[in-house]
Amino acid sequence: MNLNNNLKKILIIDYGSQFTQLIARRIRELGVYSIIVSHKKIKFNDIVEKNIAGIILSGGPLNVYQSKKVRFDKKIFNLEIPILGICFGHQIISKELGGKVKKANQREFGLAKLKKIKNSKLTNNFFKSNGSNNVWMSHADEVIKLAKGFKVIAKTDTSKFSIVENLSKNFYGIQFHPEVTHTEKGKVILKNFIFSICNVKRNWSSKYQKQILIQEVKKNVGKSKVICALSGGVDSSVVAKLIHNAVGKQLTCIFVNTGLLRKNEEIQVVKTFKKKFKINLIYVNAKKLFLRRLKKVTDPEKKRKIIGKLFIKIFEKYAKKIKKVKYLAQGTLYPDLIESKSVTGSQTSKIKSHHNVGGLPKKMKLKLVEPLRLLFKDEVRKLGLELKLSKQIVLRHPFPGPGLAIRMPGEITENKIKILKEADYIFINSLREHNLYNKIWQAYAALLPVKTVGVMGDNRTYEYMCLLRAITSEDGMTADFFSFSKEFMQLVSNKIINNINGINRVVYDITSKPPSTIELE
Ligand code: XMP
Repeated sequence: MNLNNNLKKILIIDYGSQFTQLIARRIRELGVYSIIVSHKKIKFNDIVEKNIAGIILSGGPLNVYQSKKVRFDKKIFNLEIPILGICFGHQIISKELGGKVKKANQREFGLAKLKKIKNSKLTNNFFKSNGSNNVWMSHADEVIKLAKGFKVIAKTDTSKFSIVENLSKNFYGIQFHPEVTHTEKGKVILKNFIFSICNVKRNWSSKYQKQILIQEVKKNVGKSKVICALSGGVDSSVVAKLIHNAVGKQLTCIFVNTGLLRKNEEIQVVKTFKKKFKINLIYVNAKKLFLRRLKKVTDPEKKRKIIGKLFIKIFEKYAKKIKKVKYLAQGTLYPDLIESKSVTGSQTSKIKSHHNVGGLPKKMKLKLVEPLRLLFKDEVRKLGLELKLSKQIVLRHPFPGPGLAIRMPGEITENKIKILKEADYIFINSLREHNLYNKIWQAYAALLPVKTVGVMGDNRTYEYMCLLRAITSEDGMTADFFSFSKEFMQLVSNKIINNINGINRVVYDITSKPPSTIELE
């Protein structure tokens, strides 16, 4: 029996909601292990054997009467394990136990005011003193008749069975989504369910996570060879170290120096991964090639495409040299999965062609290993520290695949790259020196293709303009600019102009995202 099975855990049966992973994340944040299994794959015996302390049935786009599509085994009601149904989960519990579900007269989507009807263990410390709370709804169907033994705990104006319970059986149903941040104190509901109703003790930490992920990689990869495109960023660094811990020399990392990296980045990567961790690392110096292909290219999308394609080509070339590779390791995170899945079914318009080191060599027919696919950035960072990666790597700001190319609108030249690397280095180091680096989600310097007049000493100058960007954000999807003090801005501006030939003006970007994006191109 593996470690997974020894831990008491919450089983989440997934009915296809875009938020299922969030439920698991919230439970892990509460320090309890949870697993997600699709309703299509769950086997009753798994539940009995897997040390399950509580079951959560997720939301989902299905209708409870679509019997061919919905898999539900009524035997779970006899296990004497607490069950919490969320949205669709609530509806299916009601239906299966004799209640009724119907298309709601009014689709409820967005915030709704929840009103308390009676006390429950599930809602301890959840309601405000006036007995209400704002919750986030997203449903078309609703329960219209409760199953026997259930009582109403709370309602909204349109949904009269918003929270229900069957106390003697420990079954609970909620129509809204406690796992999303829009629901005020939603985590309290999950906390009550786990600790007061399922009686689980805290058992989950990055240390366990590390052990479990290492086991998972070992099991999946076996004795085969794995390659990994290492960029030096947080995600690929954590993946490389994790896989190395799991399968050692079966892993080879390929690091492509595009010439568009931050100052000294290539030196750090080689020092950390090859020298310190003794990971097989192929270092490819492709600076000249990238520069040649990007010569005179000014269109942002063209730049991205050229870099993306060239990267794949180089990666494939070196990957082929390692014979009999079966797996490609990628640092895909959970938000990448959400973004790539069109959850609503409607295609969003393409803003930028993202270059992601992974997702690459389809032609090579490699199987993917994506050990971070269920994690969010902050969880990846904690895992990185657990894997003994330095804080410098783990807490690093995100850096885009196309690198400095998209921080230099207009033509890319060797001289501009040199100037930009220095400016960025000064800015980032100043942030570190003033303890600002970790308060900022991402910061960088860019070189604008505009020359302006300045005066230095008694001489007229005519040089480039440097733009500084520093933003706060939760996930990079939206962002706000960071407020620096005048003294700090002055200091950075002076340092840049005094130390770098080629820049005589520094400006600060004060736009948020939207309407701007974080990068310039
Ligand atoms: P934007 O500019 O779209 O950036 O607001 C959002 C976040 O994504 C990063 N970014 C990229 N990351 N490949 C990446 O791996 C890319 O092509 C890419 N383009 C932008 C950007 O730095 C920010 O963190």
